[in-house]
Amino acid sequence: MLNNVHLSKLEIKKRLLEKLNTISGNQAEQESQIMISYSAKKENYLDVNNGEIDKELINKILNERIKGKPLAKIINEKGFWKNIFYTDDYTLDPRADSEILVEHILNDCTQIKNKKKFNFLDLCCGTGCLGISIIDELENSFCDFIDISKKALNACKKNIIKFEKQKNSKLFHSDLFENYPINRLKNIDVIVCNPPYIPTSNYLSLNNETLYDPRISLDGGELGLDYYIKIIDYLINVKFKGSLYFEIDPIISENMYKYLLEKGIKIVYKKVDYLSLDRLIKITLPNNN
Ligand SMILES: C[S@@+](CC[C@H](N)C(=O)[O-])C[C@H]1O[C@@H](n2cnc3c(N)ncnc32)[C@H](O)[C@@H]1O
Repeated sequence: MLNNVHLSKLEIKKRLLEKLNTISGNQAEQESQIMISYSAKKENYLDVNNGEIDKELINKILNERIKGKPLAKIINEKGFWKNIFYTDDYTLDPRADSEILVEHILNDCTQIKNKKKFNFLDLCCGTGCLGISIIDELENSFCDFIDISKKALNACKKNIIKFEKQKNSKLFHSDLFENYPINRLKNIDVIVCNPPYIPTSNYLSLNNETLYDPRISLDGGELGLDYYIKIIDYLINVKFKGSLYFEIDPIISENMYKYLLEKGIKIVYKKVDYLSLDRLIKITLPNNN
């Protein structure tokens, strides 16, 4: 498609958009820019000059994209918050929807006067995009990362190295809290968690692109609440004193609120995302009220 060697950056973008409009819809503009900057080995589209774009590479990416593979899974990169994260076949590609967790955790932490050092736990960390984005903005803070998938932890480790957070991070290969030392939990101020939450029956009818993410990152059991319930039960049992920020989704929110009410758990606040969809709840546990 881009065999003409004399094409300018804008001409390449125009041709990409012609192809991407039908595949990527309202993401076409953004995807064309990402393809161009990636093929020119630049972080930012605006920094790409004519003649710097590897057209063979862009053709290869476009051919895979046309077959339906998500762009992030082709180039192994996804922008999240203020950075570009490594992602692969074993991780959920970071979603813009989840940035609201970073935003509110940072907002809350910076309002706490006289506290200069926070300990976070990114539970079900995948690429580590949540925990890394948070500690990247809070000097001296530390984050533990837990995932059941060794391969996802590998991706998280790559990102920790990429963003030079080795001294502020520790990885735990664990089925939720199974291999996580309880003594460490006592020092955690904030748990951030985006667990698998798609109800199994909905998982089976997800669109093809979402199915490129591993099932273990999506399927949340019959009602989509399996992980929340296990996590909350455990934390109540060990009398966790910190704050808990969960990503949620309209697909589960009503059942989630019902469950929390039954358990007598206080919702500190709920937030909707940029599409006005239920996306975040902050809770504290009964022993903490
Ligand atoms: C929805 S993804 C979230 C990834 C990342 N935190 C994000 O927001 O992009 C859920 C993650 O939970 C992990 N996971 C699934 N079951 C788990 C378990 N029992 N214990 C720990 N992690 C688990 C998956 O491997 C996946 O990386």
